[in-house]
This record gives sequence, structure tokens and C-alpha cells, in this order.
Amino acid sequence: MSAPPSSAPRWMLYGASGYTGRLIAEEALRRGHRPVLAGRSREKLTPLAEQLGLEVAVVGLEDVRGLVATLEGLPLVLHAAGPFVRTSEPMVQACLAAGAHYLDITGEIPVFENTFHHDAEARARGITLMSGVGFDVVPTDCLARYVAERVPGAHELDLAIAATGQASAGTARSALEQLPSGGRVRRGGALQPWPMGKGLRRVRFSDAERTVAPIPWGDLVTAWHTTGIPNITTYMALPRGAAQALRLTYPLLKRMLAVDAVRHTAERLIESRVQGPDAVARSQNRSHLWAEARAADGRRAQAWLDLPEGYAFTAVAAVRAVEEVLAQKPLGAQTPARAFGADFVLSIPGCQRQEVLP
Ligand SMILES: NC(=O)c1ccc[n+]([C@@H]2O[C@H](COP(=O)([O-])OP(=O)(O)OC[C@H]3O[C@@H](n4cnc5c(N)ncnc54)[C@H](OP(=O)(O)O)[C@@H]3O)[C@@H](O)[C@H]2O)c1
Repeated sequence: MSAPPSSAPRWMLYGASGYTGRLIAEEALRRGHRPVLAGRSREKLTPLAEQLGLEVAVVGLEDVRGLVATLEGLPLVLHAAGPFVRTSEPMVQACLAAGAHYLDITGEIPVFENTFHHDAEARARGITLMSGVGFDVVPTDCLARYVAERVPGAHELDLAIAATGQASAGTARSALEQLPSGGRVRRGGALQPWPMGKGLRRVRFSDAERTVAPIPWGDLVTAWHTTGIPNITTYMALPRGAAQALRLTYPLLKRMLAVDAVRHTAERLIESRVQGPDAVARSQNRSHLWAEARAADGRRAQAWLDLPEGYAFTAVAAVRAVEEVLAQKPLGAQTPARAFGADFVLSIPGCQRQEVLP
């Protein structure tokens, strides 16, 4: 890959040496950006920076002053180091202090809530805070806005995701971190607990009908901010047996994960065994989404979205979000679809939306 021109956009990509960070760095370069590759490990960042011809910045998240100093002259951070429940807040603080826009690729509910908690400070500072510029939540947020705009006054929103392929170690670690929080839905505008594995149903995706189970996605926060719909359920396609097993085994699993030794063993297993999809899987697998908005008087709208594999999508969506934030500078805590509109997802190659299925 050849080095981009010196006029190319310069911003900080933190966590650049991780599985997803590397994909984002490569995509940014392909699109003519010149991100500074940042993280806590010089040893891991240097080979990537040399390969891509980009600058390195080494700074730990515990050093907020160091982060602020590193951000001098940079307009934006794309944060790709998770689990974000552990990493987001110090970077948000550094961005508020430095006056730099903050974007991340989290899917974790407490992180979305924390980002919105800083809305007033971000507005006062003249910056954007935008969590979830990856697979979770760009496509679902855009589809939620699309169906909500077709049913003014809708009171219910369902979103369902069918994603194939493996997770990365970082995603598995983030999921492990969130597992003890259990299932959730949004009812009457508030997040409420929901028993894991309860509420199985069938959903027709564009390619096939599948069993889905309520699984708490970041959209329980973001779709609420994007659409104002007070009752939201997010579903994920699972083999029927897996969904039923989840219901039976979840209470035991939760108790086991409360034991430090068990959690550490699970983390070590993830570290040694989970690698993320390879280039072939990223280029061949497809993901499928469905959304439906309903009003009390019976009006309803549904839509489908087909898109590339999750990590391939995340790399492009995150860089596209950087481009839009640098161009539009939306103020305060934002969701992708609230800031950029329902069609933002269609600017990402390989995404097709349908309103009616044959
Ligand atoms: N929303 C989405 O659709 C989406 C898509 C992809 C990924 N993600 C999320 O993105 C995160 C990263 O995923 P990944 O696949 O890239 O994982 P990964 O390969 O394990 O990489 C994690 C990166 O984060 C860094 N990191 C972790 N904790 C840190 C800390 N306390 N301080 C500084 N750096 C830290 C790691 O640095 P070291 O190597 O130095 O440990 C590494 O660079 C996960 O939370 C994942 O769930 C979300």
C-alpha cells in the first residue's frame, strides 16, 4: 500500500494493533486517510505502522494527560480498543479536554449510556461523541430510523440480526464482560431485564426464515435516541436448540462467571483459541437484518437490509463515520442514523435495503 498525500485527513486510531483496529487502519489508508496509529504497545504498533507507512503514538489509557498531549493538532479519535466498559471513559475525558471528536466501535449498552451521559459537556465543547460506528449499530440504527420514519408515532420497534461466521477475541471478551448483565428490552422508554432465552419467534429475513431470541444489542439505547420509540426489542438469529439451551443454562453460567477463577479461565481460552474471521470469510459471508415499527392504530412498516460480513462492514463503516463527522461536525452525543440519516448505511458498498420481499 502506498503512503497517502500529506493533505490526507489525520486523526487518531486508538487500539490500531487489534484485529479490528488493523482492518480499520488498512481501510482508512485505502480511502486516502493518514491516521496516527495509537495504543499502549509500541512493540505491536511499530510493525503495522512500518507496513502502512503511518505514524505511531504510544500512550496508555490510564494517562489522560498523555492522551490529551498526544491529541494536540488531531481533530478526532476513532477508539477501537475494547472491551469499552474498561476503555471508553478515559478516552472520552481526553477528547473533552482536547476538543477532539470521539467515535468508537462498541456494542456495549453501558458504554452507549455513558456516552449520552456526556452530551451536554460535548455540546459545550463543540465536539461529537458517537459510540457504535461498526456493525453494531450502524446498519440497525439506519434501518430503525428508516421504518420509524414510515410510521410516525410508532410505539413498538423490533430489530433482528442474522450474522454468520466467527467473532474476534475482542468481541468474545466484550460479550463475556456483558453476559452477567443478562437479557434486556426497552419498555415504556426504560431498559428492563428480560429472561435470557425467553421470547423465541420466527423472523423472515431476505434469504431465509430463522428462529430469533431477544439478545440485548446496543440499539436498545441508540434506537431510542434515534427514533424515540419507547418499546424496543432486539433479536438475534440462533439455532433453536442453542436459544433453548441458553434459557436453561444461563442462571448457572451467570453464577459461574461471578467466580474470578472461572472468568479468568474463560478469558485465557478466548485469548488462545479465538482468532476472528480470515480474509476469505470476511469477503464471502453476508449478514441479514430485519426491522419493523408498529403504531397502536395498526399502522406498520418493515424493511430488510443485506450487508457484508460484520468485521468487513465495521472497517468501512467506521472510516465512513469519521469522514461524515469531520465534514458535518454534529454536536453532542449522537447516533449514526440521527446524525447522518437512514441512508448512511447505503453509502457502504455491498449494502442493499428492501421494503418488500418477493
Ligand atoms: N460494534 C461492532 O460491530 C464491533 C466490531 C468489531 C469489534 N468491536 C469491538 O471492538 C473491540 C476490539 O475488538 P478486536 O477484535 O479488535 O479485539 P482485539 O484484537 O483483542 O484488540 C483489542 C485492542 O484493544 C487494545 N486494548 C484492550 N484493552 C486495552 C486497554 N486497557 N488499554 C489500551 N489498549 C487496550 C488491545 O491492545 P493490546 O494488544 O496492547 O492488549 C488491542 O489493540 C471489542 O470490544 C469488540 O467487541 C465491535
